[in-house]
Amino acid sequence: MARLQAVPSEAEIIVAPISPVLGAEVSGVDLRAPLSPDQVAAIRAAWLKHKVLFFRDQDISHEDHARFGRYFGALEGHPVTATVPGFPEILFIEAADGMKVTDAVLPIARPANKWHTDVTFREKPSTAGVLRIRKQPPLGGDTIFADTALIYADLPPDVKAKIENLDAEHDILRSYGYRVSAEKAAELSAKFPPQVHPVVRRHPETGERHLFVNHVFTARILGLEEKEAADLLAYLLDRVKAPEYQVRFRWSENAIAFWDNRATQHYGVLDYWPHERIVERVTVAGEERPSR
Ligand code: OGA
Ligand code: MN
Repeated sequence: MARLQAVPSEAEIIVAPISPVLGAEVSGVDLRAPLSPDQVAAIRAAWLKHKVLFFRDQDISHEDHARFGRYFGALEGHPVTATVPGFPEILFIEAADGMKVTDAVLPIARPANKWHTDVTFREKPSTAGVLRIRKQPPLGGDTIFADTALIYADLPPDVKAKIENLDAEHDILRSYGYRVSAEKAAELSAKFPPQVHPVVRRHPETGERHLFVNHVFTARILGLEEKEAADLLAYLLDRVKAPEYQVRFRWSENAIAFWDNRATQHYGVLDYWPHERIVERVTVAGEERPSR
């Protein structure tokens, strides 16, 4: 104890990359207890560097989950996805983004499952997601993350030049429109009008440039003729599918994933039905509009 007090900078967390591209597993920390400022600083640095961190065997309560998220900013709820009773800041996710899977829904939900960055329909899309698994299927239900800075870096120079100053429209109804009533859709679009974000986003903390379009919310690229805009968007969206940009996380009981939502896309693999999978997400609200 005395030694730890004398050397407060020793956070003693262990960070082990699990892919050469992005993603690291963190051990040597117990998320059921408050963290020291040094531990938070060490986790924060590892998170910015590796873009997504994974923790295992963290049997945290809902309070612990929310407390962990708050080390990184204010929390936000979600206009569509269900929440844990008593915890409006913790999303309760039973299947692909809130749509409960059944035999009848599966043939719609599986092809509708898509790569995305969370809530880019917001003026200030979220900074981070903290996902804990609550119920794990015996097999499957992995989550895949992709590094959007590497995707951007690998684009051909002519494409980089072309998209440098382009903006795209992000629309909540592209994702949720088809599964809510017409009334709810009208309410959502009044509350969340389409947002215009740069196609290339500069990360506010690392300064890295990221490709910032996604299959779920990006409706169209602005400022080009319609066909050219559609072809360019399709080309850019396709890049995230290359395994070279990805890390695939196999969940275990009480595992947690903590991603930088400004630096990544993710994909929850919907391959486990008829087994159940439940995850809970705390979302750290964005602090700025994306900028070039
Ligand atoms: C999310 C999400 C994927 C998964 O929580 O934002 O997309 O694997 N989750 O549950
Ligand atoms: Mn998501």
